[in-house]
Amino acid sequence: MSLVVTNIGELFTSDDELGILHDAAVVVDGGRIAWVGPAAQAPEADERLDASGHAVLPGFVDSHAHLVFAGDRAAEFAARMNGEAYTGGGIRTTVAATRAASDDELLSAARRLVTEMRRQGTTTVEIKSGYGLSVDEEARSLRIAGELTAETTFLGAHVVPAEYRDRPDDYVTLVAGPMLEAAAPHARWVDVFCERGAFDGEQAREILTAGLKAGLGARIHANQLTAGPGVRLAVELGAASADHCTHLSDADVEALAGSDTVATLLPGAEFSTRSPYPDARRLLDAGATVALATDCNPGSSYTSSMPFCIALAVREMHMTPAEAVHAATAGGARALRRDDIGALRPGARADLVVLDAPSHLHLAYRPGVPLIRTVLHDGVPL
Ligand code: NIG
Ligand code: FE
Repeated sequence: MSLVVTNIGELFTSDDELGILHDAAVVVDGGRIAWVGPAAQAPEADERLDASGHAVLPGFVDSHAHLVFAGDRAAEFAARMNGEAYTGGGIRTTVAATRAASDDELLSAARRLVTEMRRQGTTTVEIKSGYGLSVDEEARSLRIAGELTAETTFLGAHVVPAEYRDRPDDYVTLVAGPMLEAAAPHARWVDVFCERGAFDGEQAREILTAGLKAGLGARIHANQLTAGPGVRLAVELGAASADHCTHLSDADVEALAGSDTVATLLPGAEFSTRSPYPDARRLLDAGATVALATDCNPGSSYTSSMPFCIALAVREMHMTPAEAVHAATAGGARALRRDDIGALRPGARADLVVLDAPSHLHLAYRPGVPLIRTVLHDGVPL
């Protein structure tokens, strides 16, 4: 069954750098993009979707989210808005709630968030474990994540759980050994929260190296709260992505710019922790590849909205609207090392969004407004 999306006022292909066409059409066939070009030349198709002159763009690729958890931490957010600092210590609160929840509760809560994301234009989401922090609990979280996405990430090294507080090195040995072994069949990626109060550079290296050896790809929470060794470790190990990148030295920026490691910026976290935003301009001007993601989690960034993150990136991080949309689509795809998503080009997966607006600019220009009119995932309307 083929479908032509026609009468597209602005087609943001996100291909070839940014690639914007006007009065365009897209033909979808068998879940893939079959043709992209001027509406007047569009080939015939079985069905027709009239975009009414609105903008069309690739579905968002949210390459960083923590969706398998129970409970919330609204009180912690309120305390922060009252002047308290974010430390990451609240992760243990969510671990206790997650361990106490049933599989069904965790799956339906995560599914609800994925549905929320889809309604806001996200067609691919990465989901991390990291609120289980035992061999069985991490494997359980990843099995649940695997029900919802192929992009599953083992984050046993989120924080040291309470029961290992006095022997963190034993926990690292557990994560890099039996926990990884139980997690690997359910995970595509391995991640570490490399930060003061979580895991240091040497611990992160041990866990990521073990993950790579087990056949997983590496990604890392790096330089979120302090200028630590995470970014340089990511580049050295050939990680797909270094995430947060809030506190960077010149050497970090240079390392990212000269590498295939994507700098994934998560402005929802700075918003929700009332912290300084990462310097996206510095990264872009140096030539680094930048992605935007939500970091959706109950502690530091409880938003599922890529449009909100795009608006923050433009307003607070000095990205142009086109750069921000590119980072939220093609950038996310690069961060997941995927070449079949994140851009509208023949052969790509037919994941696209029709806006209720004439151009991509409106995503930042009209923050907080539900502008997602239609979402196609694998060519099928949601
Ligand atoms: O990416 N920084 C570490 N992990 C999450 C926060 C998780 C939490 O606070 O529950 C993040 O911001
Ligand atoms: Fe995170």
